[in-house]
Amino acid sequence: MDWKAELKERTAKIDENLDRLLPRESEYPEIIFKAMRYSVFAGGKRLRPVFLLEVNHILGGKTEEAMDFACALEMIHTYSLIHDDLPALDNDNFRRGRLTNHKAFGENVAILAGDALLSHAFEVMANAAARFSDGRGIAAMQAIAHGAGVYGMVAGQVVDVINDGKKVDADTLRFIHTKKTGAMIEGAFLAGAALGGANDATKEILQQAATKIGLAFQIQDDILDVIGTVEELGKPLHSDEKNAKNTYVSLFGLEASEAEVERLTAQALEQLESFGSRSAFLQELTKHLVGRRK
Ligand code: IPE
Ligand code: IPE
Ligand code: MG
Ligand code: MG
Ligand code: MG
Repeated sequence: MDWKAELKERTAKIDENLDRLLPRESEYPEIIFKAMRYSVFAGGKRLRPVFLLEVNHILGGKTEEAMDFACALEMIHTYSLIHDDLPALDNDNFRRGRLTNHKAFGENVAILAGDALLSHAFEVMANAAARFSDGRGIAAMQAIAHGAGVYGMVAGQVVDVINDGKKVDADTLRFIHTKKTGAMIEGAFLAGAALGGANDATKEILQQAATKIGLAFQIQDDILDVIGTVEELGKPLHSDEKNAKNTYVSLFGLEASEAEVERLTAQALEQLESFGSRSAFLQELTKHLVGRRK
């Protein structure tokens, strides 16, 4: 299987559906629709929607039923990036290879574009959930809401920003990373699991795999902030150092961080292996994230 070609095809499908689900730029007031689309279509990896769709697929779910949830998740992720880049948070000027939303549209519109993407995502999910005659759509929405909100990404971002310039302990750092980034990836897996009709035991395995993948993903993000290139990443280097952030690299060093990414990934793969050859694509994707450069 050429999984990279497969990944390209899937991300193209996601982009088509994002285009279908987002309001047109010609609607009034144009600037907000332009700002929403500007960040969504700047070339993200679409990792979270790919995870959601793949878990649903592995469990025998229909991609058409899951697509709107996958796209909503990407809208929420994009909102989190727009707000993460604001001067009050990480104060970064580049994202996904272009100027950050607030640099292109101003801080006021960027804040509102984030708000709009978040709300629009819930409208999309509510519409999609209403098409189910059972509770799977609602359960998917619950998983995504939980991952995005104050029990998930927002909690991680809060503990991240209030500790800028202070040194946290290892447990707090793990909290920050598993929440700010891990929770949205858990949301992707658990929403896919809900749509695919997973039982509790299967959900448990998927959640454990997602937690490890999410933590490994953020540790690798910390690593790339130090050793990546702006061209590959599409965002600035040394943003963490600039903000005196707590990262795996600042706390444990580069080598130990790289070893931790490998260790967590191996554990996640072990869990995914319980799905046998059905999880081949997911396993390839997970392995690839270890050495990713973007
Ligand atoms: C960036 O996420 C923010 C983190 C949680 C590390 P991605 O690395 O998935 O960014 P995009 O979506 O590809 O731009
Ligand atoms: C933030 O982590 C992840 C989000 C919840 C947006 P970072 O601040 O490290 O993400 P990047 O490096 O700006 O993408
Ligand atoms: Mg940040
Ligand atoms: Mg940031
Ligand atoms: Mg980062």
